[in-house]
Amino acid sequence: MTKAKKSIAFITAMAVVCLAFGLFAWHTNKPSGESALAASAEQILTLQIGNPQMTVDGESVNIDDSGTVPVIIDERTLLPVRAVVEAVGGTVEWDGDTRTTTLTYKSDVIKLTIDSTTAYLNDAAQTLDVTPVIINDRTMLPIRFIAESFKFTVDWNANTQTVTITVPADAQTPDATAPNTDTASKSVVVYFSATNTTEGVAQKIADYTGADLFELEPKEPYTDDDLDWTDDNSRVVKEHNDLDNTDVELVTTDVPNWDSYNTVYIGAPIWWQEFSWVIDEFVENTDFTGKTVVPFCTSMSSGLGDSAKHLAEKTTTGTWLDGMRFGSSATDEQVQEWIDSLDLPASGGTGTTAAASTVYMTTDITPEALVEIYDKLGFEPEGNVAVKMSTGEPPNSNYLRPELIGDLVKKVDGTIVECNTAYGGSRSETAMHEQVIKDHELDTISKDGFVDIMDRDGSKIIPVPTPATGASSTITENYVGAHLENYDSLISLAHFKGHAMAGYGGAIKNMSIGIGSQEGKCLIHTGGQSHDSPWGGDQDKFLESMGDATSSVVNFLDGKVVYINVMNRLSVDCDCDGNPAEPDMHDIGILASYDPVALDQACLDLVYAQKDGDGASLVNRIESRNGLHTLEHAAEIGLGSREYNLVSIDS
Ligand SMILES: Cc1cc2nc3c(=O)[nH]c(=O)nc-3n(C[C@H](O)[C@H](O)[C@H](O)COP(=O)(O)O)c2cc1C
Repeated sequence: MTKAKKSIAFITAMAVVCLAFGLFAWHTNKPSGESALAASAEQILTLQIGNPQMTVDGESVNIDDSGTVPVIIDERTLLPVRAVVEAVGGTVEWDGDTRTTTLTYKSDVIKLTIDSTTAYLNDAAQTLDVTPVIINDRTMLPIRFIAESFKFTVDWNANTQTVTITVPADAQTPDATAPNTDTASKSVVVYFSATNTTEGVAQKIADYTGADLFELEPKEPYTDDDLDWTDDNSRVVKEHNDLDNTDVELVTTDVPNWDSYNTVYIGAPIWWQEFSWVIDEFVENTDFTGKTVVPFCTSMSSGLGDSAKHLAEKTTTGTWLDGMRFGSSATDEQVQEWIDSLDLPASGGTGTTAAASTVYMTTDITPEALVEIYDKLGFEPEGNVAVKMSTGEPPNSNYLRPELIGDLVKKVDGTIVECNTAYGGSRSETAMHEQVIKDHELDTISKDGFVDIMDRDGSKIIPVPTPATGASSTITENYVGAHLENYDSLISLAHFKGHAMAGYGGAIKNMSIGIGSQEGKCLIHTGGQSHDSPWGGDQDKFLESMGDATSSVVNFLDGKVVYINVMNRLSVDCDCDGNPAEPDMHDIGILASYDPVALDQACLDLVYAQKDGDGASLVNRIESRNGLHTLEHAAEIGLGSREYNLVSIDS
């Protein structure tokens, strides 16, 4: 990599690292005037997702008067940068004519222009990977770039969803024009690929980082027949059945100039939810001391799960990062964004790692465990709290029973909210729907004995935010139940299971179809084509529209949303089916997260991980409807991340 390219990569890494991006909320040219604090000693600021307060040196202050909260959009945490910059004594100016923001801190000046990838630090041009954008009157700016240009450090705690910004007492002016002198950083991509998918990603990593490539080749290559996992007598099945005795002999494990590398990307295909055992010999017999090791894999549908962790456990040497999973059609942009987020020395960064979303899990499906997992999220709902669930189609649907969810709904003083159905049935009109609610005793646990059918007074149209990832949304506006505007926070309480049209239903379906008015449901089902019929649209556009609609609701509620999926009664059919098929698998547990994409992905992975034929019909239902495309698109538009850390709360 040339020095110039490295320098750009450094700025890019700062700009797009997935932990911190800026959110401004200003409407005037008002410079900050008096600063809240003068930066005469080290200052520490913390901001938490969904929390309208931040702490400045331990003291809680409002972020601003309009209740702005940090939110996660597009896998990035958007912070109220005005508050941050002003809290440390800096100023913020907005020039509406040129759509330029000027941030000043001590002697440093940053200028950023909406929709431009060129930023200026002390008049030196820098290239950003992500353009600053205005979404709903708010200007999104890359805070990490800003913070690190000003010599602040930024840390992210995925468990508490908190960003900590440390402002040193002696913040010095960085010399933005200085070349990256980290020429000693060197990377190598070591990989095995049976059918060239992983090789494609390895090549993209090498292209972007300038790393060398090294392929691990079995002495006896795998033929197509060897790879047939459906054949009990194939080589992979036999090896998999006897993993303790499976050693795949490689042509060589000696990477030339091994000592010269300080970053090692290691890749393989996922075989039965784990990194292919073909690379085990290399991992077990290689000394990674002093090296940062970055696992990556490709798979058809499985997420990363614990596979990278298991791989790292095969050695005691090296600093192993979380790793990343790619699909069969990984793009240059996806690979580059991931590498930038790693902030590795070899790509010019400082060596901190990015975080996957946290998903909590308990196998205990009880009222107590439901409350416990909610508490674990540390969510502080504000104002009127909506609890979105399915009221369940009579007579026999698997809707979440009041005995299970009542304690949680009461604890948060929540109003159960729902919308009428678009397909007929017993809940397509408010009066009938209210009778079902009574029959299902959901009114007994909802605030003031009232379950709000949010579209009883029609629709409200809310915009789908423009994805900052550069991806396109399929629908641009969403018709939700008009009463959504009566709520300030929302808990998505979904029953995870199959679905006749979407393949599966979890958080994203609950937040989109579930909150859509009848007109909104028709628009989502048809990818924006029909206002009055839910039938006959393009399947993938339908799946994509669910992510778009979810994104609009999250945006409307300023990100004050958390998601819980209950994995019981795992039928192939939804709660909108009054006579769902009997499940062919056991109950799994309750999962919760701030990230609907990570949450649904984790649930799907748990279904896929079932053994002995359990869940075969559900997997079949999901795949026959291309259900995973929901997550592909949702991740693409930045609704959340398909990578996650599953944290058990069971003792
Ligand atoms: C033996 C075997 C087992 C597999 N197991 C899984 C799996 O558990 N989950 C999954 O999503 N894909 C699985 N796949 C699909 C591969 O992970 C996927 O096609 C991968 O991208 C292939 O990478 P490659 O071309 O580098 O070999 C499996 C493939 C094979 C051959």
